[in-house]
Amino acid sequence: MITPRIRTADARDLDALYDVCLRTGDAGNDGAHLFDDPRLLGEIYVGPYVMLSSAFAYAAVDEGKPSGYVLGTLDTRLFEAECETAWWPDLRSRHVDPASNPATPDDELIAEIYRPQLASDAVVKRFPANFHIDLLPAIQGKGIGSLMMDQLFSVLRAGDSPGVHMDVATRNDRAVGFYEHLGFSVVESHNDSVIMGKRLNTL
Ligand SMILES: CC(C)(COP(=O)(O)OP(=O)(O)OC[C@H]1O[C@@H](n2cnc3c(N)ncnc32)[C@H](O)[C@@H]1OP(=O)(O)O)[C@@H](O)C(=O)NCCC(=O)NCCS
Repeated sequence: MITPRIRTADARDLDALYDVCLRTGDAGNDGAHLFDDPRLLGEIYVGPYVMLSSAFAYAAVDEGKPSGYVLGTLDTRLFEAECETAWWPDLRSRHVDPASNPATPDDELIAEIYRPQLASDAVVKRFPANFHIDLLPAIQGKGIGSLMMDQLFSVLRAGDSPGVHMDVATRNDRAVGFYEHLGFSVVESHNDSVIMGKRLNTL
């Protein structure tokens, strides 16, 4: 068995990584049946990290194809501000705001483009970095997720990050268990998801 190669991700990977995002977009399972526009999820959760936070963006390449990613950012507040100026405007120009009446899953995503959910002050104070990780089924369960997280922790620590958080659907038991195994714990609860955080300073 050849282990997938982990390398930095860049703009050339976007199409493949958007597909990974869609194929894992229903709380870890294939979300392709949920959305009419197959690129929307990736445009929100993958694109800005690869394009605006490339120092913390990695792809797992399996048989020549990008099949997974871990995408992070050191400073969530700065990243939110950069998205506001350099990422959301283009998407807003291409999608009509459903305002307060999102009628479909696509509309709910488009509402996110217009009114992105910002991390709470309490979370960013202790865990200023954040990330997303998704692997296609073919490379799940082989330790690749742990390797990718080690890579992310290493570059975040090199950037003196005191802590990192992510948002996970509560029904995604596998991912919640994976994160607990890596030392994350729940730091904030929402309706269908929890924010999990991990401190990175070793002292
Ligand atoms: C969740 C995910 C990133 C985990 O990566 P992975 O490479 O499949 O992880 P593995 O199953 O190989 O497990 C890695 C380690 O975590 C542990 N682990 C995994 N799932 C666990 C669980 N539910 N409970 C406890 N430990 C768990 C494994 O025992 C293993 O430990 P080890 O390295 O000490 O042997 C990956 O399965 C995935 O992308 N799933 C679909 C998308 C998704 O849900 N993404 C997260 C969205 S928030």
